[in-house]
Amino acid sequence: VRIYVPADSAALALGADDVASAIRSEAARRGIAIDLVRNGTRGLLYLETLVEVDTPDGRIGFGNVDESDVAALFDAGFHDGQSTHRLALGLVEQIPYLARQTRLTFARCGITDPLSLSDYEAHGGYRGLRQAVTMTGADIVAAVTASGLRGRGGAAFPTGIKWNTVLRAPAYQKYIVCNADEGDSGTFADRIVMESDPFVLIEGMTIAGLAVGATRGFIYVRSEYPHAIAALNHAIQTATRAGLLGANVAGSGRAFELEVRKGAGAYICGEETALLESIEGKRGVVRAKPPLPALAGLFGQPTVINNVLSLASVPVILDKGAQFYQDFGMGRSRGTLPVQLAGNIKNGGLIELAFGVTLREIMYDYGGGSASGRPIKAVQVGGPLGAYLPASQWDTPLDYEAFAALWAVLGHGGIVVHDDSADMAKLARYAMEFCAVESCGKCTPCRIGSTRGVEVIDKIRAGTERPQQVILLRSLCDTMLNGSLCAMGGMTPYPVLSALNHFPQDFGQMAGDEL
Ligand code: NAI
Ligand code: SF4
Repeated sequence: VRIYVPADSAALALGADDVASAIRSEAARRGIAIDLVRNGTRGLLYLETLVEVDTPDGRIGFGNVDESDVAALFDAGFHDGQSTHRLALGLVEQIPYLARQTRLTFARCGITDPLSLSDYEAHGGYRGLRQAVTMTGADIVAAVTASGLRGRGGAAFPTGIKWNTVLRAPAYQKYIVCNADEGDSGTFADRIVMESDPFVLIEGMTIAGLAVGATRGFIYVRSEYPHAIAALNHAIQTATRAGLLGANVAGSGRAFELEVRKGAGAYICGEETALLESIEGKRGVVRAKPPLPALAGLFGQPTVINNVLSLASVPVILDKGAQFYQDFGMGRSRGTLPVQLAGNIKNGGLIELAFGVTLREIMYDYGGGSASGRPIKAVQVGGPLGAYLPASQWDTPLDYEAFAALWAVLGHGGIVVHDDSADMAKLARYAMEFCAVESCGKCTPCRIGSTRGVEVIDKIRAGTERPQQVILLRSLCDTMLNGSLCAMGGMTPYPVLSALNHFPQDFGQMAGDEL
């Protein structure tokens, strides 16, 4: 009998290793032959450790398994496909949270053994690359452009247009750089790809290399992700041994080599030019643009720099065609968005959905409401630099343009929920403080503005000269918004002003006050 116990960080944090060894020793004690596979996560993090057992009808799941449950699970015959134990969830594929998703980028997550190349290929892996080696670079770029894929790191710049700039740039050496410095609060989609399906990222980067004529790639991973780093290094070695990386990629006669670089824990190293500086061995300070990295990036050479999710979406586009991908979504937001539901929410996890679903559906139909059981007050979308949205905006569809119209961002798809006990003025202060701590210090509005911002919000909260301080805060935000060199200082006003505008009572507004 085959039993699956996830080995991704979220499950490990909840004791998955102990569950796996308890299953092994209990099976041995009872003389039951088992094949224990350490799969990735399905993304149903609220059910971890989610143990699955293969049956002729499909995989049966057991949720929130602790090592102390293992003996009782065997007593209840879980290894024979019996679904009577109190932790039984029935067929995993039919759990509504999962069944109602559109899994394109995350199609294999939780299903396969992340480190097995044969498992990857048995589930559609490397079909995109095998298609790509039959195409010219320009045709690959055209397919990615036609798919409508936009940068999933947060800025939503059309991926095909970025690749085209690199393709057309003359150079002896070009690079593909993957931004895996996933620093946004409440986000974990990049981590899940790297830990649960590392080959999909490697395949996507290899296709990018063939497309633009780059022979070297770097994956810049934050140091907080040791399991992702280990999985990637293992998968890179396996792909190289199999001839899918190296001097002759899949028999194409074209070369592509890949290596992992570890960050050192600075949020700003997720900004693309600071990231490039860091790979070059320098301090992570933002570069002025232009020149764009597409023309003068890593070591001054033309460089494709994309987020993990953008690159991991490429194999399915090459395999199933641009039109297949383009058929999902709404407006100019095509394909799927991996939403990461976190904060004060009952059912946290990863939800891959076509653009167009509303925030309310995500928070209630998938998330099940707040974890505390109290009413939800505000939801921050797009990381620590994203706006806070009040209930009146929760029917907005997830779509880059619809969010921009609200003066909000979808960003990297992180959604952090707060219940009615949240103090929005305190959260606004936190945004300024975060900027002060993480600022690279290169430009004045961000370096000094964030520190002044903390002081001004402190005065507002203390009720000192409140009307004048609110005017000052708005003026400061205006300067940061328009005068900062990068999104760090430029977007910090989003959480601050949205908190002030939508929740003025938390800033001490009295009846009749004008904030
Ligand atoms: P940006 O809008 O300046 O650039 C987006 C991308 O398009 C960059 O790679 C840029 O080099 C490229 N680009 C722009 N014009 C181009 C052209 N004509 N040809 C080729 N390439 C071109 O945005 P930026 O500063 O890169 O990212 C800001 C976003 O990052 C924010 O919207 C925020 O949501 C997101 N973010 C994500 C985080 C995460 O953990 N994933 C953390 C912090 C911010
Ligand atoms: Fe550095 Fe902040 Fe200026 Fe960005 S906005 S360049 S992080 S000082």
